[in-house]
Formats: sequence, C-alpha cells, structure tokens
Amino acid sequence: MKFVIALAGSSGSIYAARFIRAMAQVPGESYLIVSPPAIRVFREEFSTNVSNPQDVLDFSLNHWNQVSLKHKFHVRPHGDIGADIASGSNHWKGMVVVPSSMKTIAAVRAGLAENLIERCADVSLKERRRLIFVPRETPYNRIHLQNMLALDEAGAIILPASPGFYQNPQSIEDLGDFIAGRIFNLLGVEHNLFPKWTPTVQS
Ligand SMILES: Cc1cc2nc3c(=O)[nH]c(=O)nc-3n(C[C@H](O)[C@H](O)[C@H](O)COP(=O)(O)O)c2cc1C
Repeated sequence: MKFVIALAGSSGSIYAARFIRAMAQVPGESYLIVSPPAIRVFREEFSTNVSNPQDVLDFSLNHWNQVSLKHKFHVRPHGDIGADIASGSNHWKGMVVVPSSMKTIAAVRAGLAENLIERCADVSLKERRRLIFVPRETPYNRIHLQNMLALDEAGAIILPASPGFYQNPQSIEDLGDFIAGRIFNLLGVEHNLFPKWTPTVQS
C-alpha cells in the first residue's frame, strides 16, 4: 500500500507526528511532503529545531519510544512539481493533508497546483483517489466553510482536527492518536491506536 502524507502550515503538528509514527509500523510505503510553513509551525509546537522535511520525519519517528519500522518513507521536495508523484501515472492508494491550513484548502478548491501538496491533491481528485484533509482553524469564516464544502462535493473528505474526549484522553499524544486512528479508518488500515468504544455509563 502506498500513501501520500502532506503537512501544511497549520497548528496541529502533533496529529502529523503521531500519524507518521503509527504509519511507520504499517507495512507499505509513503511519500512525505512538508511545506515550509509546516516546518515553522512544527518547530514552534514541539520546541525543536527541525529545519527540513527529513528532520520532521526523524523527529516523528524518534521523539517517543522507538517503533519497529515496517514502512518506507520517501521524502519529496515541496517545490518539486515535477516529482514522480506529481503525475497520475504514479499510483497511490490515498493522500492525507495533516494538518491542513485554510490556505492549502483554498488552493486545492480553486484548482491551483503551485506546489507538490496542491498538485498531489489535485491528482487525487482527478484520479478519484481517497483524499483526506485534517483542517485546523477556529473560528471558521464563510470562505473556509465554502471551500471545505466544495472539496467534499469534489470527493475529498474533511476530517476536522476535533478529537473526542469520551475515552478520557490522558495526554496530548492520546489526542493525536485519536485523529491518527480516524485517518487510518478512512484509509482502510487496521490500527490499535484507541480501544473500540464501550460505554461506561448505563442509560
Ligand atoms: C505558528 C503558526 C500557526 C499557524 N496556524 C494556522 C492554523 O491553525 N490554521 C491555518 O489555516 N493557518 C495557520 N497558520 C498560517 C499558515 O501557515 C499560512 O497561511 C501559510 O501560508 C500556509 O501555507 P501552506 O498551506 O502552504 O503550508 C499558522 C502559521 C503559523 C506561523
């Protein structure tokens, strides 16, 4: 199974890092694209001095306890709109933009493909492949909402960075894993990032 994992420059680096870490334990391959603003936000949110996409990958794999690496990650430059994955002839099963800025959502909605994230999202839509956006902004303005609705109508899935609290998360990592698990559900990948819901309160 091949996937495209993209990080755009919104808050929510924890969702990307926990998703990458969990994906590392899944047999398969992923192409990783990280925008320059995403690196900036990652640095702020983890108080780390990552300076390029490879650093973001290494941090995500090594920051917590070691995972057994069953996945191959291929880093692709954000500005390389001529990369292998920029063409629909290169097949992947699904793409996730986690987290996604409103700017990247606006660009994809408008059909712009000025960088590799936007181009791969555009390819995903035209090839009818699974495309998931994990947006993070609050509050939303009408333009944000209209752009997300248009992407849904075009076949993408909007998976808001809105972790549930009914399973009593104990840490920021638990919140990240909740969203990572929801992404895996939509990609059709088995995971054990959180237990199946069992009510603790009788109605
Ligand atoms: C620390 C920081 C946090 C940001 N958080 C958000 C956010 O939560 N949502 C958002 O849409 N943009 C956010 N931005 C603004 C985006 O980074 C900016 O719009 C950028 O142009 C997005 O580019 P990209 O989508 O190509 O990565 C943030 C920027 C910084 C520096």
